[in-house]
Amino acid sequence: MVPTLSLLLTACGGSGPSGEKDQPVDPASPPPPDYGFQVADPQISIAHRGASAYAPEHTFFAYDLAMEMDVDMLECDALLTEDEVVVCIHDTTVDRTSNESGEVNSFTLAELREQDFGTWFGDEQYNGAKIVPFEEQLDCYLRHNPRMRFHVETKDSAGGLAEQIIADMLTRKGLINTGDERTSTVLMQSFDKDSLQNIKAFAPTLPTAFLYAVPTDADVAQWHITGQGPDYIDAFAPNSAAITSDATLVTRYHAAGHDVHTWTVNTREQMDQLLNLGVDGIFTNNPDLLREAIDDLGSGTTKAYRNNPTDFERGCPGVAGRVTSNQGPGDVWQNLDGQLGVTMATPAADFTQ
Ligand code: G3P
Ligand code: CA
Repeated sequence: MVPTLSLLLTACGGSGPSGEKDQPVDPASPPPPDYGFQVADPQISIAHRGASAYAPEHTFFAYDLAMEMDVDMLECDALLTEDEVVVCIHDTTVDRTSNESGEVNSFTLAELREQDFGTWFGDEQYNGAKIVPFEEQLDCYLRHNPRMRFHVETKDSAGGLAEQIIADMLTRKGLINTGDERTSTVLMQSFDKDSLQNIKAFAPTLPTAFLYAVPTDADVAQWHITGQGPDYIDAFAPNSAAITSDATLVTRYHAAGHDVHTWTVNTREQMDQLLNLGVDGIFTNNPDLLREAIDDLGSGTTKAYRNNPTDFERGCPGVAGRVTSNQGPGDVWQNLDGQLGVTMATPAADFTQ
C-alpha cells in the first residue's frame, strides 16, 4: 500500500532516532512522564525468541544469552498446551524444534517437558533443552532483573482463550498495571487484531502492539497510511521492509502517538538504517549486534536503567520445571513505589491458589 501524497503531507512530522515525537501540542496536557531515560525516547533491543542466532529459540539457553547481551525485552511466542498452559514456542507444531512431531496443543505440559528442544540446533551443548512455560520465563528473568520486560505474541484469537488465560495469569501475578507501552513489564503483540481486542477486553491497561508486513485489509491500510490506530492498539510493529521502503512510516505513527517496533533485523547495516529512521524497538536474533548499534548511536536506555546482571545462574534453577498448570505455581509481583520495574511480593514457595 503506497500512501497518497496528500495524506503523507498531513500525517508526517519530523522525528529523530531519540527525539521527542511530533505530536499535536495541547497546552493543557501534562508534561510527559520522566522515566529517567538517558534520552527522551530510547530505542530498545528485543530478543527475538531469545538470542536465537546463538542458541535454540525459546529456551532458557537463548533467554540467558539475551540477558547477557543486555537486552531491554525478551520475546515469547505464546501458545497453549493441551492442558491450557501458556508455553513459549513459535510454530503451532513441535516438528521443527523438538525431537517429536505433532501440534503443540495436542500435548500436555508434562508431555512437552519430555521432549528435546535443543538438539535440532546442532550444537551439542544445547542438547536436551526444555520447553519454557511463559510463567517460568517471567519469574526467572524478573528474579534476575525486576526491570526485565517481555514482548508476548498471541498467534490467533481462537475464541480468546489464550488471551484470557494470559490476562488471568498476569492479574494473579500482579503484572497488569506496571506501565505503558514504553515501560510495562509485559507488552502484548499480535498479527491478529481480534486477539489484541480480546486482550484489551480482559486487561484494558495491558499495552498492545499490532504486527504486520503489508496491509491485509482496509483497516490496516488506513492505519498504515494515516499513522492513526484504534484505541486497542498502543504500538505498531511493521516488518523492516515496510519501514525501509517507506521513509515516513515511522513519523506517521509517531505523529499519532504510537511507538514503532520492527522485526526481524539481524545485520548491523540494517539495524543502523532502522535506528536512523527512528524506530523505537527492534526484534533481533543477534542482540549483541543491536546492543553495539544502539550504544554507538547513544539512543538507548542506560546500562544502569536496564539493570541486567552479568553474574547469574544459568538455566533458572528454582524456577525451571516448577509450573504445573495455568494456575502456576509462580511468584507474585508488585510495582515498586514510584519507580519502574517490579518487586517480588510472594515467592512461589508461599504461593497459595
Ligand atoms: O513478533 C515479531 C516477529 O517475531 C513476528 O514474526 O513469525 O517471528 O513471530 P514471527
Ligand atoms: Ca513473534
